Amino acid sequence: MRLLRFLRSSVSIGKDIDYYSRFSPSPLSIKQFLDFGSENACEKTSFAFLRQELPVRLANIMKEINLLPDNLLRTPSVRLVQSWYMQSFQDILEFKDKNADDEKVTYDFTDAVIKIRNRHNDVVPTMAQGVVEYKEAYGTDPVVSQNVQYFLDRFYMSRISIRMLLNQHTLLFGGNVKVNPAHPKQIGSIDPHCGVSEVIRDAYENARNLCDRYYMNSPELILEEFNAKGDGKPITVVYVPSHLYHMVFELFKNAMRATMELHGDSMECPPIHAQVALGKEDLTVRVCDRGGGVPLRKIDRLFTYTYSTAPRPSIDGSRAAPLAGYGHGLPISRLYARYFQGDLKLYSLEGYGTDAVIYIRALSTESIERLPVYNKSAWKHYKTIHEADDWCVPSKEPKDMTTFRSV
Ligand SMILES: Nc1ncnc2c1ncn2[C@@H]1O[C@H](COP(=O)(O)OP(=O)(O)OP(=O)(O)O)[C@@H](O)[C@H]1O
Ligand SMILES: [Mg+2]
Repeated sequence: MRLLRFLRSSVSIGKDIDYYSRFSPSPLSIKQFLDFGSENACEKTSFAFLRQELPVRLANIMKEINLLPDNLLRTPSVRLVQSWYMQSFQDILEFKDKNADDEKVTYDFTDAVIKIRNRHNDVVPTMAQGVVEYKEAYGTDPVVSQNVQYFLDRFYMSRISIRMLLNQHTLLFGGNVKVNPAHPKQIGSIDPHCGVSEVIRDAYENARNLCDRYYMNSPELILEEFNAKGDGKPITVVYVPSHLYHMVFELFKNAMRATMELHGDSMECPPIHAQVALGKEDLTVRVCDRGGGVPLRKIDRLFTYTYSTAPRPSIDGSRAAPLAGYGHGLPISRLYARYFQGDLKLYSLEGYGTDAVIYIRALSTESIERLPVYNKSAWKHYKTIHEADDWCVPSKEPKDMTTFRSV
C-alpha cells in the first residue's frame, strides 16, 4: 500500500518536473535585483515570482541530471543530491495554489526558502564525491569526462543562480528589518557601491594568512587602480561582493602557492601584482604572479573539476589549512565571473609566471544572469556520439619523404 502511494507520488512529481522544465528560466539583471530590493521590495511580489521561477530552474537542471551516465547516477552521492532537489522542488510546489495575500503563507514560504538553502549547502562536495566514486570504479573515458565537465559547469551555474534568488529573498524578507546588519549598505547580497580594491585587499589578507601558516612566508601585494573615468575616485561597481571575493581569493591562493613553491627557499619572494581597471564596458581585475607559469598545453585542463597538482588535503583538518587541494578553485571562480556575463581567463608565460584576469560588466544593466536551459541542444550534447577529429593528428614518426618521387 505504502509502495503504491510512493509510486503514484513519484509519477506525479515526474509529471510536474516535465511541466516546469518546459519553461525557460527568466534571467534577471543586477539592475533588476537592485530596483526590486530598493524601491518596491514587496514580499508578496517576490513570493509570486519565486514560486514559479524556482520550480522552473530546479526542473530544468533536474532533467539534465537524468542524462548523466547510469553508473554515475547510481552512486550514493549523486542519489543524495537528487533527493535534495526532489524534496526542494516539492517544498516549493506546496505553495502553488496558496493565497499570496495571507501573511502566514508568505511567512511559511520564507521559512521554506531558508530550509532549502541549508539543505543544499553541501551539494558541491557531495557531487564531487560522486564523480570521484564513479571514476574510481569505472575509470576515465574521454567522452564521459567531457559530458561530466559540461554538466558540472551547468549544474553549478544553476546552483549559483538559485542561491542568488534564495539569498535575495531571505536577506530582504527573512528578518524584521530589511537591512542586512552585517552589511547595511547592501541590497540583499548586492552592493551598489562595491569598493573593488577593498574586496581585493580583504581576500589577499585572508589568503596570506593561509600562506603564512603553510609556508611560513608569503608574497607582498602591489595593488594599482586605473580609472578611465578619470575622476580619481576609488573604483566601485554594482556587484555581489561575496562573488568578487570568492574569485580573487581563489586567484590569490593559486598565485601564492605557485610563488612559494618556486621561490620558497629564497629569502625574498617576488610580489603579486594586482591591477584594477575601469573602462566603459568592462571592469577588469588582473592578478599577476611570478610562480613559474603553466605550459599552454595544460591551461584548458586547469579548468576541469578534477584537475589539481596539490596533494589531497587531510579530511580531519589536523594539518595546517592548505592553499589548494580539490581542483575546484578555477572552474567555480570562472562560473561566478560568467554568471553576470563576465569571464575569467588565464594567460601564462611558462618559466616566468601567470596572469589571471577577471572580467566583470561595468554596467549593472548589462550584468544579466547567464542561465542554462534544458532543451534539444543541451540534450544533444549528452547523446551525440563524438566522431573523429576534423583536424589531422600528427603521426609520431616523421614521414619518409624519400619514398615520394616526382612524376
Ligand atoms: N597562478 C598559477 N600558477 C601556476 N599554476 C597554477 C596557477 N593557478 C592554478 N595553477 C594550477 O592549476 C591547478 C588547478 O587550480 P585550481 O585553483 O582549480 O585548483 P587547486 O588550487 O589545485 O585546488 P583548490 O580547489 O583548493 O583551488 C593547480 O593545482 C595548479 O597546478
Ligand atoms: Mg586553487
